[in-house]
Amino acid sequence: MPKFNVLVTRRLPIAFDQLNQIASVEIWPERQPPPYKVLLEKIKAIDGLLCLLTDQIDRQLLETGTSLKVISQMAVGYDNVDIQTANARHLPVGHTPDVLTNATADFAWTLLMAAARRVVEADRFVRGGQWQTWEPDLLLGPDITGATLGIVGLGRIGQAVARRAKGFEMRILYANKHQCDPEVEQSLNAEFVTFDRLLQESDFVTIHTPLTEDTYHLFSEQQFEQMKRSAILINTARGPIVDLDALYQALKSHQIAAAAIDVTDPEPIPTQSLLLTLDNLIITPHIASASRQAREKMARMAIANLIAGLQGKRLPHCVNPEVYLISSEREDCSMS
Ligand code: DGY
Repeated sequence: MPKFNVLVTRRLPIAFDQLNQIASVEIWPERQPPPYKVLLEKIKAIDGLLCLLTDQIDRQLLETGTSLKVISQMAVGYDNVDIQTANARHLPVGHTPDVLTNATADFAWTLLMAAARRVVEADRFVRGGQWQTWEPDLLLGPDITGATLGIVGLGRIGQAVARRAKGFEMRILYANKHQCDPEVEQSLNAEFVTFDRLLQESDFVTIHTPLTEDTYHLFSEQQFEQMKRSAILINTARGPIVDLDALYQALKSHQIAAAAIDVTDPEPIPTQSLLLTLDNLIITPHIASASRQAREKMARMAIANLIAGLQGKRLPHCVNPEVYLISSEREDCSMS
């Protein structure tokens, strides 16, 4: 007899054999996420939730799920989960780091190169019947080799992006909450600079920082004004890090040359958004981690976290390990 009840909020690309042995598993069958109200009802009867970044796991939900033992999110980012409330409830939250690092870094590079060399515009040009002859100044873009790359957030994915940049002999600047270890800087040949300097000196700026209160609208009018007019912005992190109204103005007025974004705010971007009228913007539907291998590994990792949480074991990849502190330690921490 399965011991636990589990809800998985979307179909996943793997079989659930091991999970099925210990839990009765409900899989939300639709392409769209379960509406919040539905989630609120279902959470009352489950021990474990496997969710995605499109599910809003807020205080009300966490407090309603009184039998919950674990939240396991199939994503590395977890800005949709109220970690403070999870902590207050001593509820471990799992995520899926590392396994999507290369896929995401590859895609940041895909966007960077496509924007620099105007691949999407060129494709539209050919399909639109505009290709008449070879022209010396047709669809020109900047050199990537030897350019300056500014990386905002030199964590796992930022570092993977920097490793790829070495092959293009780029000068690498990075801005980060904290300076990285000298060995990391040396191996990547990356220079720690202020955010302002990064904006002013970079030919390409790529965002790899989590969404927090501090990074919300990190890129707005003032930041675009500091960037080179030839600069190209890449965002594969989270949509709200960039103020999209300001981005529209910056692209429209050629304050910056181009942008390529895989994430927007809101998601999906409304089809009437003015951004979609711009030729110097490439936009994709949050697919940076969408290699088959990465998504399978993310799903496996999310299930492993879920099973561990159900069985009362430490999650292999937990975003709030403070829930494992014994209560006296917790009191010490809260007093310090
Ligand atoms: C994540 O994991 O946070 C990505 O945005 C989706 O893969």
